[in-house]
Amino acid sequence: TQTDLSRAQSLITSIPDYPEPGVVFRDISPLLADGPAMRAVTEALIEPFAGQFDIVGGLEARGFLFAGAISAMTGVGILPIRKAGKLPRPAAAVSYTLEYGTATIEGPDVLEKGERVLLIDDILATGGTLTAAQSLVADLGAEVIGSAVILELTALGGREHTGEVHTLFVV
Ligand code: PRP
Ligand code: MG
Repeated sequence: TQTDLSRAQSLITSIPDYPEPGVVFRDISPLLADGPAMRAVTEALIEPFAGQFDIVGGLEARGFLFAGAISAMTGVGILPIRKAGKLPRPAAAVSYTLEYGTATIEGPDVLEKGERVLLIDDILATGGTLTAAQSLVADLGAEVIGSAVILELTALGGREHTGEVHTLFVV
């Protein structure tokens, strides 16, 4: 319900000066702990994409939690998009720039050609993670039909890199 969704937003806690001074960390742990808020968020993430996706792509680690919930709710499977070095035989890898250094994500060889993927993560910040995931799915031979996150941090301009993203809450 809208009440549960509003409460979900209030359950995302801002922690100043973590992981370093000047950064505000958005902690979703209280939201994760609340059953009705989790259900409301899961339903809202997929609402614009009903019937349009064959599999849900979850971004390690926090995206996994919502991809799992969406899989259980809709009956589609999960594409785990993993941080480098976790998969025995990655079928594709994409590197992207972080504030300091680079990161790499990898995906398994499980997609059919043209399979329709909905990408899910908790937070859109600089957009580096989500943009890399979009490229990764294309490299895996499938199609990203949408991307959805719970919280978008607009000041970081991630949307300029990702294109359209369905966001539930914006700060
Ligand atoms: C966080 C968050 C998003 C990403 C957003 O993940 O969960 O995945 O950063 O940032 P970006 O838009 O600048 O790429 P992080 O890798 O910090 O940790 P996690 O493994 O807990 O998800
Ligand atoms: Mg993450």
